[in-house]
Amino acid sequence: MMRKQIAAANWKMNLSLQQGEQLINDLLSKPHDLKENQLAVFAVPAPYLMMAQEKMGTKNRVAVAAQNCYSKKSGAYTGEISVEMLNSIGVKYVVLGHSERREYFNESNQFLAEKIDISLSHHITPIFCCGEPLQIREEGTQNAYVAAQLKESLFHLTSAQLVNVVIAYEPIWAIGTGKTASSDQAQEMHAFIRAELAHVYGKETADQISILYGGSVKANNAVELFSQPDVDGGLVGGASLIADEFVAIINALK
Ligand code: 13P
Repeated sequence: MMRKQIAAANWKMNLSLQQGEQLINDLLSKPHDLKENQLAVFAVPAPYLMMAQEKMGTKNRVAVAAQNCYSKKSGAYTGEISVEMLNSIGVKYVVLGHSERREYFNESNQFLAEKIDISLSHHITPIFCCGEPLQIREEGTQNAYVAAQLKESLFHLTSAQLVNVVIAYEPIWAIGTGKTASSDQAQEMHAFIRAELAHVYGKETADQISILYGGSVKANNAVELFSQPDVDGGLVGGASLIADEFVAIINALK
């Protein structure tokens, strides 16, 4: 099976509803050629999920994602979003473990493992984010750091479950800084992640998993990043808020 090449937009906490609608309208009106193995995903703020779902839910090769969900099915958890709620509006993807969630909301690898489980049990594909801070990169211990994130949040899964997970490698020092990892640095880490997956689940399973790169992906560096053999697309913040930029990033997919 050929793994999917994915351009994922993460709007984060940006745009009004009207601006969001306009951006989706602009994106849908521009020519893009998503091939059979390619997918564009839009992680929009929670209040806009239904709007995005209405505009894109029935389109081929396009999907809507939540930016987060909670680890429990339902109940007295004021302010949280459940996977049952996402199911009920047809949302099929959720971003989990973004470094901003880890940093500002103290989400641990163990807590994320619970979120991964509940998402998979409700047929929602997690886009699981991992990646090291600058200090770890400077110490040269990024591989061990990312390996622990994978182990503690994902490696309890069966391979039948794991193939329904998308991984996004986002080095924190490259997020919103304009400082992209070089395509060699991205490839090196993606190959390492795939080797870790292969070590636990075997090569055949590891080869099915899409591993996206995130951190200052722009129209002008996407082709080079995505051309690396283990880079299966991108998770894009800032540049996903500009229609022309994001369409160019979609068109840079392998
Ligand atoms: P930027 O593309 O703005 O660096 O953000 C990356 C990111 O965090 C996507 O989730």
